[in-house]
Amino acid sequence: MKKRILLLACLFPAFTATAQDAEIQSSIKNVEKKVDSVLSLMTLEEKVGQMVQYSGTWDLTGPATGDQNQYRKEQLKKGLVGSMLNVLSVDATREAQKLVMENSRIKIPLMFGYDVIHGYKTMFPVPLGETASWDLEAMEETARISALEAAADGVNWTFAPMIDISRDARWGRIMEGAGEDPYLTSRVAEAKVRGYQSDDLSNPASIAATAKHFAGYGFAEAGRDYNTVHVGENELHNTILPPFKAAAKAGVATFMNSFNDIDGTPSTGNKILQREILKGNWDWDGFIVSDWASIAEMRDHGFAEDLTHAAEIAVKAGSDMDMEGSAYETGLVELVEEGKVNEELINDAVRRILRVKFKLGLFEDPYRYSDPKAMAQIDQAAHREVARDVAKKSIVLLKNEKNILPLSASVKNIAVIGPLADDKNTPIGNWRAQGEANSAVSILEGVKNAVGKDVKVTYAKGADLGVGEKSFLKPLEINTTDKSGFKAAVDAAKKADLVILALGEDAFQSGEGRSQVKIGLAGVQMDLMKEIYKANKNVVLVLQNGRPLEISWASENIPAIVVAWQLGTESGNAIADVLFGKYNPSGKLPVSFPRAVGQEPLYYNQKMTGRPTNPTDVTYSAYTDEEKTALYPFGYGLSYTTFNYGDLKLSSKEMTQDGSIQVTVPVTNAGSTAGKEVVQLYLRDLVASTTRPVIELKGFELVELQPGETKEVTFEITNELLEFYNSEKKWTSEPGEFRVMVGGNSVDLKTETFRLN
Ligand code: BGC
Repeated sequence: MKKRILLLACLFPAFTATAQDAEIQSSIKNVEKKVDSVLSLMTLEEKVGQMVQYSGTWDLTGPATGDQNQYRKEQLKKGLVGSMLNVLSVDATREAQKLVMENSRIKIPLMFGYDVIHGYKTMFPVPLGETASWDLEAMEETARISALEAAADGVNWTFAPMIDISRDARWGRIMEGAGEDPYLTSRVAEAKVRGYQSDDLSNPASIAATAKHFAGYGFAEAGRDYNTVHVGENELHNTILPPFKAAAKAGVATFMNSFNDIDGTPSTGNKILQREILKGNWDWDGFIVSDWASIAEMRDHGFAEDLTHAAEIAVKAGSDMDMEGSAYETGLVELVEEGKVNEELINDAVRRILRVKFKLGLFEDPYRYSDPKAMAQIDQAAHREVARDVAKKSIVLLKNEKNILPLSASVKNIAVIGPLADDKNTPIGNWRAQGEANSAVSILEGVKNAVGKDVKVTYAKGADLGVGEKSFLKPLEINTTDKSGFKAAVDAAKKADLVILALGEDAFQSGEGRSQVKIGLAGVQMDLMKEIYKANKNVVLVLQNGRPLEISWASENIPAIVVAWQLGTESGNAIADVLFGKYNPSGKLPVSFPRAVGQEPLYYNQKMTGRPTNPTDVTYSAYTDEEKTALYPFGYGLSYTTFNYGDLKLSSKEMTQDGSIQVTVPVTNAGSTAGKEVVQLYLRDLVASTTRPVIELKGFELVELQPGETKEVTFEITNELLEFYNSEKKWTSEPGEFRVMVGGNSVDLKTETFRLN
């Protein structure tokens, strides 16, 4: 016992004698040793306790489990909880931490997790929108700021980034990821991990990140959330797993598994994914938290008989922490005592959890995220500046007939119309953390801020979009009948030189549980658009959306279309920056926009099929009632200037597996406005031992060009870029011919070929 107390004194200097400080400092270098020391002190109950995560009742993000606060407080005091989620503020987190530190036997600090998805208080664009900037530095910066704000409010762990590839606009959570491409999503994953965690997790301004949802969640059949996933090994390895591997390599502290089953196995109980691939092949040493009650939900999947059975399956499969599922606390101790679960599996999970806690510096100071002055010291104004900057970079210009944009000084009378025109809530998006409702700059406000006194701005809502209560868990009610505001809107349109028409989706139309079978403009918006267009042809359609929308009619008729996603706190100002030409748009779509919902899932990097084309009859892979291509493809986005691409120059037409070749392309700004272009590199492996996509993104670079200026952009093609998971279950490249393509989107491309020998 004496030995134990001595050891404790060494491990927890903040709460025991300071005499051992020096010793602690030297041993802190060896996290593994310390992890083992703590583990050796723990009872089985205490170990299982570390694997339990409870939600506070502050901000529920899943079905409530009833008010168990008193019971849970007792569990905290006994040291039988490893982490809390949704407990917010310095006071509340400190209070919960105190229950553990002042009452439990071993005093292992809690981690406080929260969904800091696109900002904490200062809101940045929803992830899908932000990815449209293709600006990795900006994405890292917004994660860094989110971490800073969250850490100042007691949170030391975010459940982000979500890096589920999704090709289905029906899936409401498409807004939460980086879109349809594995290469782009991998780069975003790395940037986000760097931003949240910095290069040192013990830096109190950084927080632990989570790569989620492992795996396949974005492939939910028919875009219906939580639905079954059918993917083969080829797709799993080549499309779904690469961003997760990139996050693991970047040192992400935790993973979250997913609600869905893949090929008959729920992810939470998937040993191959969690133990074999992630913890085995990738040699990753963090811990896996389940998704909300996903261990318990294996009962609903018909995969586990009861909570104890679910616990057994999950722990064997490598799920380390049980979020709000009560399965581990119900069954694990008994399972070990009965010999059904080897205690070494529990030890492995607890080691992983303790390791992250040590890295976060929580053992040195469990209250390091509890500084009541921290939030006040944050320069919110500086964060808002960053929010505006990244928001304007995220905007995608889809159409600009007769250069109606940027708005010229001769436009003296603007009507700002639409249900989202003065909506200060929608830009905050879903998964808004502590972003205040109705706190964004609306489009109307942004336009008014931008114009001088000589420009008249009239506003008419036209119609409501979402009505009734708007919140995370409540279904959104859409206005499908009330057109009483149409007349005033049409009158305003008639009197104006130009209409800025703000349509799209309410914040609570996308996000978790917000799958839709229709992805057009909901409610009465189509009717409103047609009426306005009848009254005034000079319409700039500004869309706010969390998913690709079906906008074929607008695309045919409306002269200018701007995709403004849900851009966060500074939304309206950023939109005005683009509309009035203060910022030349540079955003490019990270997802394909369909012609019709029936094309979903739609993505650019498809396979060829055996019947790609046959114009003479119907027996080829196409639709008889619509084109099979995207309306606006992946990588697409216009600028106020034009970029011309010259021919590709290859340093060699032959390459070996241990060599590389350079591909160079001259890009010229052929217009009269300075601008930024996202130069995109694509490859195609023409013949391989498995069928390969017709085109795949493999690099990109943002280039700023003055009018008339030409820059040469060079990409290096290495063997790594040519590798794929092949028919022998190996990541390798295969000799043969490759096509290399470079351009400003995934369709308009300059092409060359080379051979891999
Ligand atoms: C979501 C996760 C989220 C968790 C905690 C779940 O419903 O799927 O992405 O992190 O809740 O809020």
